[in-house]
Amino acid sequence: MNKIDITVIRYDPENSPAPFEQTYTIPYDDEMVVLDGLNYIKDHVDGSLSYRWSCRMGVCGSCGMMVNGEAKLTCAVFLKDYPQGVQVGPLDHFPVIRDLVIEMDDFMDKLRAVKPWMIREQEKPVEEGEYLQSPEELQLFRQFSMCINCALCYAACPVYAADQTFIGPAAIALAHRYDMDSREEGQDQRAKVIGSHEGIWECSFVGECSVVCPKHVDPAAAIQRSKVQLTKDHILGMLWPWGKS
Ligand code: FES
Repeated sequence: MNKIDITVIRYDPENSPAPFEQTYTIPYDDEMVVLDGLNYIKDHVDGSLSYRWSCRMGVCGSCGMMVNGEAKLTCAVFLKDYPQGVQVGPLDHFPVIRDLVIEMDDFMDKLRAVKPWMIREQEKPVEEGEYLQSPEELQLFRQFSMCINCALCYAACPVYAADQTFIGPAAIALAHRYDMDSREEGQDQRAKVIGSHEGIWECSFVGECSVVCPKHVDPAAAIQRSKVQLTKDHILGMLWPWGKS
């Protein structure tokens, strides 16, 4: 088996006030992803290494880290693609709890803030049956429902780096997912959040969020479409102040 150096940016607040690098040399083969390398270290070399993962198949979204400076799912990138060695660090722009484990409370609060659930002014009686939706109506939001909350887009976003009050790409894409749903009636409630000072207007359309997204959600498109929609709503509100017909 070949050998590879994995350098981990570690942080152990109980024993050291500053982050430090630790390099592990491990055997690897072509099948091993970066997460497998971390698991090898944990199982065979250093059980104190801390990081999150669960599914190992790009679904749970918990294994996001900086891999050679780029935000990646570590279960989706292969060690063989880093023959010179690889550096693994915690996701940028998040407080670090320990080693590669980041604090995600602020991220979760932002997802909750956009009310990611169906809002109906009035539910119809159960006996009237389900809310039907055409394939075309589904396609309007399907892409934006693929987010796995991995937070890679926040680690790549220069606006979030500069101002962490920014609601951010994943939360706005999530809001857009519900706003585009034909069964939804809560767009006005969500507009108060995404149209606020910390919302869509902060985005300078660098687009890195969409570049790093492992599920091709394209949050940058969601943000730009939301800008267009809110602008249209604003103009219509001025022309038609007594409300939507
Ligand atoms: S371990 Fe679940 S997405 Fe990587």
